[in-house]
Amino acid sequence: MPPKILIARPNFPEVIERLRQHFEVVDNQSDQAWTPDNWRAAVQGVEGVMTTGSDPITADLLAACPRLRICANMAVGYNNFDVAAMTAAQVVGTNTPDVLTETTADFGFALLMATARRISESEHFLRAGLWKQWRYDMFAGMEVHGSTLGIIGMGRIGQGIARRAAKGFGMQVIYHNRSHLSPELEAECGARWVEKHTLLREADHVMLVVPYSAATHHTVGAAEIALMKPTATLVNIARGGIVDDAALAQALKERRIAAAGIDVFEGEPSVHLGLLEVPNVVLTPHIASATVKTRLAMANLAADNLIAYFQRGEVLTAVNPSALKR
Ligand code: 8YV
Repeated sequence: MPPKILIARPNFPEVIERLRQHFEVVDNQSDQAWTPDNWRAAVQGVEGVMTTGSDPITADLLAACPRLRICANMAVGYNNFDVAAMTAAQVVGTNTPDVLTETTADFGFALLMATARRISESEHFLRAGLWKQWRYDMFAGMEVHGSTLGIIGMGRIGQGIARRAAKGFGMQVIYHNRSHLSPELEAECGARWVEKHTLLREADHVMLVVPYSAATHHTVGAAEIALMKPTATLVNIARGGIVDDAALAQALKERRIAAAGIDVFEGEPSVHLGLLEVPNVVLTPHIASATVKTRLAMANLAADNLIAYFQRGEVLTAVNPSALKR
């Protein structure tokens, strides 16, 4: 009997077909909503599950699902996993690093440019039929090229954004991260480490690319925004909860910073009403990795992890490799 796996959310038909060659597959192409009860019941029946960032793997779920061996996340972030509980239960978790790095860095840069140059705001104005004549200050925004970009979180995606900024746009790049990059990598990315408060004070544009954890919750809230220049912009492509969305909405309303670009939200898909009400924010529905090619690569990497685990007892991109030592 082939192992039984669950693909939690709709996915590429060719990836599901590929998995069917190795597993008994339960899919969810109709995208039925998971309540805590039917999610537990579905995971209880399987040995492996392909999750997305919104499918929680908690200690309670693990206790209720003793057959479960592997959770393959179709995301690089894995804050939907209780990693400690998974390791204790010897359930392997995997993610999808590398395959989305450049695509996500492209999007971070797109959001920075849309935010600084007021692209969404001006398009709404045009579509509303409000464009009657040219004006010297119409949608005058903030300079991107030659300005200072501050990146908080300097993993692979942060480095990709730094390269684009330093090499493509002649920007000064400063970054803050728990660990410093090697001098060689700093030189290659054109980036310099600074303290967080220095970054907030000096950056013309602040970009958040830090993974979510209890330690990074509200990395940017009212106090941090207060340090930023009134002309600065803030972009969050990291995770909901990295920014205090209520504080950001208030700051945008009072024009304490110029603008923000936000792809990820606290409690998404709900969006703080205050963000919906202000014009100086570009809002996108968590699409930073969303190109067809990259999403397919992410799905295939998650599938590769499931196949490798059940064929050879190993995975390609473990988040808790110690769970493999059983
Ligand atoms: C995913 C992401 O699309 O990789 C991540 O961490 O945030 C996105 O690329 C999303 O999490 C759905 O799994």
